[in-house]
Formats: sequence, structure tokens, C-alpha cells
Amino acid sequence: MKAFEISDDVYWVGVVDWDVRDFHGYKTPYGTSYNAYVVRDRKTAIIDTVYYRFSEEYLSRIGDVTPFENVDYVIVNHIEYDHSSALPYLMERVDAEILCTQRAKNVIEKVYSDKWDITVVKTGDELSLGTRTLRFIEAPLVHWPDTMFTYLVEDEILFPNDAFGQHIASSVRYSDELTGIDVFDEAGKYYANIVMVYSPQVRKVLEVLESQIDGIRMIAPSHGMIWRKDIEKIIQLYRDWSGGVAEKKVVIVYDTMWGNTEKMVRNVSAGLEAEGIEYGIYRLKESDWSFIMKEIMLSRGLIVGTPTLNREVYPSVSGFLTYMKGLKPIGKIASAIGSYGWSGEAVRKVEEILKEAGMEVVESNLRFRYTPSEEELEKCEEFGRRFAEKIKES
Ligand code: FEO
Repeated sequence: MKAFEISDDVYWVGVVDWDVRDFHGYKTPYGTSYNAYVVRDRKTAIIDTVYYRFSEEYLSRIGDVTPFENVDYVIVNHIEYDHSSALPYLMERVDAEILCTQRAKNVIEKVYSDKWDITVVKTGDELSLGTRTLRFIEAPLVHWPDTMFTYLVEDEILFPNDAFGQHIASSVRYSDELTGIDVFDEAGKYYANIVMVYSPQVRKVLEVLESQIDGIRMIAPSHGMIWRKDIEKIIQLYRDWSGGVAEKKVVIVYDTMWGNTEKMVRNVSAGLEAEGIEYGIYRLKESDWSFIMKEIMLSRGLIVGTPTLNREVYPSVSGFLTYMKGLKPIGKIASAIGSYGWSGEAVRKVEEILKEAGMEVVESNLRFRYTPSEEELEKCEEFGRRFAEKIKES
């Protein structure tokens, strides 16, 4: 794959990671890319690096578009390792000034080197490359404290690092050229698992962006496809996702030991169905949690089914709830159900976790011993109907 010109003298020099299937716990069935860019002018700037395992490929791609001695600046938008760990390899080849936020500088000096020439930039600061200008916009916690966006003013290209990204490996670079994968779905999954926890900061940055930039012709993130069409659509989706906009549908996550909690789940879902509410059911032991998180983000309701095991929540359920709680989905109506044998603490414990996660908990009182009877299964369906009403009213 060659360096790719996305605008006059602006090149993609990233790498495509076709093989990664687990990105620190996030399932990546389509792989990913680590995108970096070169802007050539009277001065030349490199925007971001890549994961160090791909350093040689990255450097070779840079070498295709500029001699290393011509590189004047290296912009570090974010110091997570997938974007910064090739920095030492790049700095061996160039005599360049690094520009980044103060927090990024602190990390670079601790992790990589305190010998480099680093200039700290703030929101609104600009760097002239000759005929063109880079403007910097701090984006703290979108999604790390050090993060910033870089805007190429004259070309109206936003380089927002992780924001607006998707984990997709592809031979094409633009979202509108991609086939076989729904890029908006993947952007949503990425948002739910990487960015959602910082939704308040996303809303702030979207406001700051409006004051700092005149227009966007292209969004060039650090993962996946570059947006040159649907710019307003993806920004509006970020507004919706960060604002908790969701559809009136329900996600049911559960696990089961001997099929009894599963029976309860099926009957609750029959109640939802009877009321015309769309739902999805996911057995946690066998499902992709990253996908489920996207579905939870897009749904108003959540029902959790858990057996009680040794007086605790079933491990696959408690593991998922820990993951979910950390990601802070907002505006959810939730409930818990489950089968048990002796003491049956798990349902109450799940309700407490859902409350701690800031959800509006509808108490189900659905906690049945051993195999649920026909009458108990009827209660499950009735609960499904009541839960559906709550969703309709929300
Ligand atoms: Fe793609 Fe926060 O790293």
C-alpha cells in the first residue's frame, strides 16, 4: 500500500493492521488502521505516528513523500501507544520540533525521551507551514487527558485522532468507498466502547470546534476511514450519542446455568414482543461485549438476567456489568431477573449495580427458585409487558 494523497500535498502515511482481533478487550473483527499524515509546504509537518510494530512500514511511507531532513514538525495529538509508540523510531530519523499538549509532553518525557525539542500548544494556537496553517484544539478526555485535535485551516481538514474513528482495516481510505462493512455501525461501536464514557467532554469539544473552525471538508481520524462525505451526519451522530439519544428498544443480556434464567428471559421477551417493542437477546458468555455496548447505547431499555452462584452474580454477568458501568451509558431504564436455588442474592445485587451506573431501575420482583413454573413464566411475560410500557412512555 502506498502513501495516499488526500488533499494537495497532504498525505495519509498510516498503516493497516489486518490481523488484530482484540484491541485491549475491544473485539475488532475487521482489524484496524493506525492513521498518520504528512502536510508538505515550505515547512513539512507529520501528524501522529503509529503502533511501533509497524514503524518500518510507517517510515517507508513517509520516505515516499518527503525526505526526512525536510521534516520540521511532528504533531502528537495523543500519546496512547497505538499512536505514539513509533515516535522514538521517527525521532531517530528527523530533526524536528514536537508540538503537543502539556499533558502529552509530560508523558513523552517520562515514557520516551526528555531530550527532544517539545513545544506545548493550547486551543487556538497556530503554526504556519508557509502557505498553510495548522490550528490546535485541546480535547481533554476525548478520550485521554492529553488529547488534542489539529485543524489544517486552508484545506478545512480536521485531524481529531481517535474521535470519529472506527476499527476497520481496508485497502480504501474514504468511508464512502468502503463496501461490505457499515461504517456508521462501526463508528457507533467505537464510540460506545472508547468514547462514550467521556460524553460530557465530547459535547464540550463539539462546542469548542464550532468556535475554532470555519468549516470541515474532511475528517481524518487516527483509525479507519476518512470522512469526506457525510461530515454533518457523523458529527450529528456524535451529538446524539453523547447526548444519550436512543431508540425505544430493549437489550436483554443474560447468562444461565441450567436453562432456567434463559426460560425467564424468553418469556420476558415475549411480553416485549406482545407490546411491539423491538429487542435483542445476548448470552454474555458467547457474545461480543463490544457489540452489545453499541446496542445498549442505541437502546432505551436494558434487562439483565443472572443466576445466583455461591450467593453472587453469575461471573460472566458481573464481568460484563463491570465493563458496562465503566463506560457510563446514559438515560437507560433497566431491570434484573434471574433464577436461583437456595438464597438468590444475585438479582438484588444486579439492581444495585444498575442504580450505581445511574440507570432508572424498574424492580421486577422476578426471582424464581429452580425451574420456573407455568405461572411464574406467565409473570415473566407480564413483566415484559409492563417494561415495554415504561419504554413507550420514556
Ligand atoms: Fe487509538 Fe486512544 O488510541
